[in-house]
Amino acid sequence: MSLKYDLIIKNAAVIDGTGAKTYNADVAILDDKITAIGSLNEFESRRLIDASGFVLAPGFIDVHTHDDTNVIRTPNMLSKISQGVTSVIVGNCGISASPVTLGGDPPDPMNLLGGRQDFIYPTFKHYVAAVEQVQPRVNVAALVGHTALRSNHLKDIFQPASESEIAVMSEQLNQAMSQGALGLSSGLAYASAKQAPMAEVKALVKELAKHNGIYSTHMRTEFDAIIDAMNEAFETAEYGKVPLIISHLKCAGAGNWGRTTETLTLLEEKSKTQKVACDCYPYSASSSTLDLKQVTSDFDIYITWSDSEPDMAGKLLAEIAELWNLSLIDAAKRLQPAGAVYHGLHPDDVKRVLKYKHTMIGSDGLPNDPHPHPRLWGTFPRVLGFYSREEALFELPEAVHKMTGLSASEYHLANRGEIQIGNYADLVLFNAKTIRDKATFEDPIQKSLGIEKVWVNGQLSYHKGQITETRHGRFLRRVQQ
Ligand code: ZN
Ligand code: CU
Repeated sequence: MSLKYDLIIKNAAVIDGTGAKTYNADVAILDDKITAIGSLNEFESRRLIDASGFVLAPGFIDVHTHDDTNVIRTPNMLSKISQGVTSVIVGNCGISASPVTLGGDPPDPMNLLGGRQDFIYPTFKHYVAAVEQVQPRVNVAALVGHTALRSNHLKDIFQPASESEIAVMSEQLNQAMSQGALGLSSGLAYASAKQAPMAEVKALVKELAKHNGIYSTHMRTEFDAIIDAMNEAFETAEYGKVPLIISHLKCAGAGNWGRTTETLTLLEEKSKTQKVACDCYPYSASSSTLDLKQVTSDFDIYITWSDSEPDMAGKLLAEIAELWNLSLIDAAKRLQPAGAVYHGLHPDDVKRVLKYKHTMIGSDGLPNDPHPHPRLWGTFPRVLGFYSREEALFELPEAVHKMTGLSASEYHLANRGEIQIGNYADLVLFNAKTIRDKATFEDPIQKSLGIEKVWVNGQLSYHKGQITETRHGRFLRRVQQ
């Protein structure tokens, strides 16, 4: 008998990523692909694993990350592979590592991706080459950030772009798209992009259509005027006739709690006439740079880092204000530039958004934060363990679909996200009874429990809490239509 396969995973409970029910099967891998599914008793393989009692699912796709420079600087990507993540999409929220040429320090919030020395990719091609050279542990696909383009070409990023500035941004976006970028992201809530009128973003989004690109947006606001911001996003994407993805859909701020019923109704209505989706992280706290506009006494704001007052990291803003005998806002000013976690979401809103049929899971983790929001290490096991198993928000196949098949289809990642013959063997084996996140707000850097094995492109990459010797991630270029 010849050895037809490199590996057979026997007796697994297969959740294939399509949303379909769990079924029992053996799954065979040859080289980097899934080559057989079914009862494979009569076949021999170089290696055999008995997966009885475990779920085999497609490797998870983290559609919302800020891992742009980390996939190169810390290529083992332990925070992600330890959750069963096999692909990350970088370049979200308007900020990307490429194409970027900085004149000085990176503007807020590009500083979330690293310091000046980390922005060394003047073209998208340079970035792809760097990823391919280091070969991270997970696959990488990338969006181009609107704020990154602005910082390259605008005389003043706190102003709208001029006609000629829009022209050079468009040209650079076109170039990046032809080099394999997935699309454009924007971060219109941040000061560095806030002055961009809808027309500026529309002009760029129009360029995406030529390339089968996607428009993903951290909207102009997630607070009271969220409906207006959503309508702006719909109109912008519709202008270019491109798919829209709303980033980390939420209703922020105490006055806004409960309104996801309204936002999801609007999203559902729009989904009948244009292609729309959103991503969401499974926590009722958000995190970013410390934004003076978000300073409030309505809920806890936790300072995760501060360049000017590093000793204050790890304290509540209210504590710091009291210590300095300042108002919250004056304390926040003194801490700048800084990072924060805002406990400003309602748990029921988080559930509603997670449950929505067009919602994908994206961590929005901030890998360069010394005390990161726990979403960086815990997002995927938390959806499976807490939201699916404990809260019964959805069945496991539906939860898995939101982090695999749905994500691959929305982002046009070919031959990934589903366990099908011919697809790449990005796989995760986990224990459905024990999987759970361990990362907490107090102690956020912790591997999750219940992830047994992870394969990337057919190669074992994580096993029982440890990374394997070699890395097998690839750069995933946009698929031409
Ligand atoms: Zn964002
Ligand atoms: Cu983000």
